[in-house]
Amino acid sequence: MKFFIDTANLAQIKEAQDLGVLDGVTTNPTLMAKEGIKGKENIINHYRAICDIVDGDVSAEVISTDFNGMVKEGEELAALHPQIVVKVPMIKEGVKAIRYFSGKGIRTNCTLVFSAGQALLAAKAGASYVSPFIGRLDDVSVDGMELISDIRLIYDNYGFETEILAASIRHPMHIIQSAKLGADVATCPLSAITALLNHPLTDKGLAQFLADAAK
Ligand code: G3P
Repeated sequence: MKFFIDTANLAQIKEAQDLGVLDGVTTNPTLMAKEGIKGKENIINHYRAICDIVDGDVSAEVISTDFNGMVKEGEELAALHPQIVVKVPMIKEGVKAIRYFSGKGIRTNCTLVFSAGQALLAAKAGASYVSPFIGRLDDVSVDGMELISDIRLIYDNYGFETEILAASIRHPMHIIQSAKLGADVATCPLSAITALLNHPLTDKGLAQFLADAAK
C-alpha cells in the first residue's frame, strides 16, 4: 500500500518524507488556502516546492468546472513537473476532461467520489487514481469502508488499472481498514501516519529493555 500525505504544509511533507515511508502528496484548494497560498504564481511555486521534497506523485487540483477550463488548467499543471497528477472533480465535465487527459498521457486523480457508480465512471474514463472520501461518508452516517470494498470488487471484476486512493482519512483505523480491503493508496494527515507508530506495549517493552541494559 502506498502512503500519500494529504496536506500542502511543507514542514509536514518533509517530516513524512524523512520518515522514509512517503510515496506522494495530495492537495486541494482548501489545503492550499489553509497554508495561505494565494494567486496563480504562488500556487505554482508551491507545487514545485512540494515536488522538490518528495519523489512520488503530487496531486494538483483544477478549479475550473467546465471542460475547456479544466483542460487548460490541467495541461498547465501537468507541464509544471513530471510528478504532477491533475486532480479533477467527479462531475460530467470532469469525466470528459479525464478521458481527454488520459488520451494525452496526462495522469489524473478523480476527486470527490462518494459512490461506486462514480468510481466506475472514473475508471472507464481512464483516471489514474480515484479518490473515495471515506471520512466524509462516515460524517453522514454512511460506512466509507463499504465504498472502498465495493470499488475494489468492481475494479477487480473488470481489471481496471485505476488505483483506489482512500481519501478523507481521519484516523489510523481508516488506514488499517483501507489496507485490509485492498485500497492501493491511503492519503492521510501526518497525525494518522504517525499514530500508526504507537503501542503502549512497545513503550513498556522498550523501557524494560533500557532498564535491563543499564544493569
Ligand atoms: O483528500 C481529500 C481530503 O483532503 C478530504 O479530507 O478531511 O477534508 O474530508 P477531509
